[in-house]
Amino acid sequence: MRWSILLKHRSLRLERDQRSDTLNPTDLLFGGMEKLGPGGDVHTLHVLRFLPKHQFDVVVDAGCGKGRQTIALAKGLRTLVHAVDSYEPFLNDLTRRARDAGIEHLVQTHCMDMKDIPDAFPHIDLLWSEGAAYNIGFPNALTTWAHAMDPGAFAVVSELSWLRERVPDAVRDFFSTGYADMRSMQQNMTIAENAGYTVLGTYTIPTEAWVDGYYEVLEPRAKALMRHPDSSVRELAVDTIKEIEIFECSKDSYGYVFYVLGIAA
Ligand SMILES: C[S@@+](CC[C@H](N)C(=O)[O-])C[C@H]1O[C@@H](n2cnc3c(N)ncnc32)[C@H](O)[C@@H]1O
Repeated sequence: MRWSILLKHRSLRLERDQRSDTLNPTDLLFGGMEKLGPGGDVHTLHVLRFLPKHQFDVVVDAGCGKGRQTIALAKGLRTLVHAVDSYEPFLNDLTRRARDAGIEHLVQTHCMDMKDIPDAFPHIDLLWSEGAAYNIGFPNALTTWAHAMDPGAFAVVSELSWLRERVPDAVRDFFSTGYADMRSMQQNMTIAENAGYTVLGTYTIPTEAWVDGYYEVLEPRAKALMRHPDSSVRELAVDTIKEIEIFECSKDSYGYVFYVLGIAA
């Protein structure tokens, strides 16, 4: 998952975690964290300000996770945000934190598959998704969600993307198994256009956003978990350390890019 970039591995783990009450490597690593990927409210709000309008009737946050950005959006827009995720414990966490923030009336959770968003929300005017679209394939997500977008609607979707042509070998090798589907920004913009959107802009989160409140928290936790008695926990810890090492030698060759998309009015 994009709480890490080791997508397939983490997806498999999540499936297993949902069946297990006792063994949950994901919670051991991410417990107590408000976010499952890099970036913070400052980046969410920066992109939100980029939109030409700020009043929306139906706002959906697809793959909201624990909802760090859901709460930022709800506060920023003062509008109900429908928070969609397929993992109920994350939604429970979000509900609790929305209550603590005094905005429970602005957050409604929906435990469902993000591929079914058009059935549940056929008239969206703002679709937001941070680091989650890849779960159903970035091209497929954009095409699927386009069916739910009203004329004049916006979609803001972040996706791990190649930023440069020159990529260190170790980074290329890592992603050949970690996220073989990663594309360049240009390729992703073409995908968006082919799915019926106009690309209004892009925003790449700064390098330090991967560290602040994210890798700086995960790294010591992962190091401690490398001695855990359960092998799946140790495996997750090793993967996480490897991911951080790759990030450190990446030379900004990849990054998280927000694609700000519009549907013609
Ligand atoms: C990397 S996390 C990102 C969460 C959040 N947007 C953030 O940036 O912190 C990806 C999220 O997508 C959710 N997810 C994965 N597959 C999904 C699906 N098919 N439908 C809905 N949610 C899904 C996971 O449960 C997880 O919360």
